[in-house]
Amino acid sequence: MHYRKLGKWALKVSEIGFGSWLTLGGSVEEKSSIDMIHHAVSKGINFLDTANVYAHGQAEVCVGKAIQSLKRDDIVLATKVFFPMGDGPNDKGLSRKHVFEQCHASLKRLQTDYIDLYQCHRFDPEVPMEELVRTMDDLCRAGKILYWGVSEWSAQQIESAVNTAISLNAAPPVSNQPFYNMLNREIEGHVIPTAHNLGLGQVVFSPLAQGVLTGKYKPGQPPPPGTRAADPRSNAFMMNRRVMSDEILVQVERLSAIAGDLGISMAQLALAWCLRLPDISSVIIGATKTSQLDDNIKASGIKLPQDICDRIDQILKEPASVSI
Ligand SMILES: NC(=O)c1ccc[n+]([C@@H]2O[C@H](COP(=O)([O-])OP(=O)(O)OC[C@H]3O[C@@H](n4cnc5c(N)ncnc54)[C@H](OP(=O)(O)O)[C@@H]3O)[C@@H](O)[C@H]2O)c1
Repeated sequence: MHYRKLGKWALKVSEIGFGSWLTLGGSVEEKSSIDMIHHAVSKGINFLDTANVYAHGQAEVCVGKAIQSLKRDDIVLATKVFFPMGDGPNDKGLSRKHVFEQCHASLKRLQTDYIDLYQCHRFDPEVPMEELVRTMDDLCRAGKILYWGVSEWSAQQIESAVNTAISLNAAPPVSNQPFYNMLNREIEGHVIPTAHNLGLGQVVFSPLAQGVLTGKYKPGQPPPPGTRAADPRSNAFMMNRRVMSDEILVQVERLSAIAGDLGISMAQLALAWCLRLPDISSVIIGATKTSQLDDNIKASGIKLPQDICDRIDQILKEPASVSI
């Protein structure tokens, strides 16, 4: 496993991170979830990503149980706050009250004294930037969190957070967690260049487009049983969306041929492609089986030659011709 710095900051995270949305404490039963975390860490993954809202706190509970038998110092533990955890007016968002309360609740569920990276799951337009930055700085000074980051923030919002931190002499955000993969390259335009200049690293989510970029979904065929797309409990963000259209699935078949030429799996090609950019500190994958972890972990350290990246760009540019 190779490790990268989180932007300009000293913290080192594994190129492959392990996330828990929909899986740990959710669709994957507890024992298998804990076994997968232990397996991931034994293979060099140090970056574990979760959120208070995943499975209504159960993902954090599961990660908390798993890390009890691991050396805490070996783990970079990341979680998030923003989405509603109750029905009350203060049970969501990024107010000082909600962030403090959820930080303490996450620490309890995770059974740990500190969070390595505490992330704002989304931007909250109702909260003055001074309130948020001061809150995160106070949590850092209190030793509850070591670093803080954001997720799915625009370039302008990231810039505002860093400038506010500078003016308050407070800790700035060190990372952004955006959606990024071969099929969604939006952050290449403004977010990455701005974050780069301000010293933030990118820890990107859904680098396999929820499994589509493994090549296991075929055009004109229903999703294979046992996959996320076939599971009505977890396919709400896939089915009836463009990512599962035949046009995209044909494109993925063409990309799989490149992976075949290189003698690597499609998943490894997709992850190595994200990691071609030095600004990507880690790709946060999900997995429902240990064998998927093993496949994905092998992407760390694969360097794609420029001509391969050019062939990939060509495929992604061309509209796929669907003849099914
Ligand atoms: N910040 C945010 O707003 C946000 C949003 C989404 C996710 N995230 C984070 O990012 C993490 C990853 O997201 P994701 O789960 O969408 O990532 P992903 O890696 O794109 O997709 C993961 C899913 O793809 C399938 N898969 C993975 N590796 C495979 C392999 N080698 N071969 C075949 N199938 C494979 C598995 O699903 P099946 O086996 O069920 O098919 C797995 O659960 C989350 O756990 C979470 O921590 C953050």
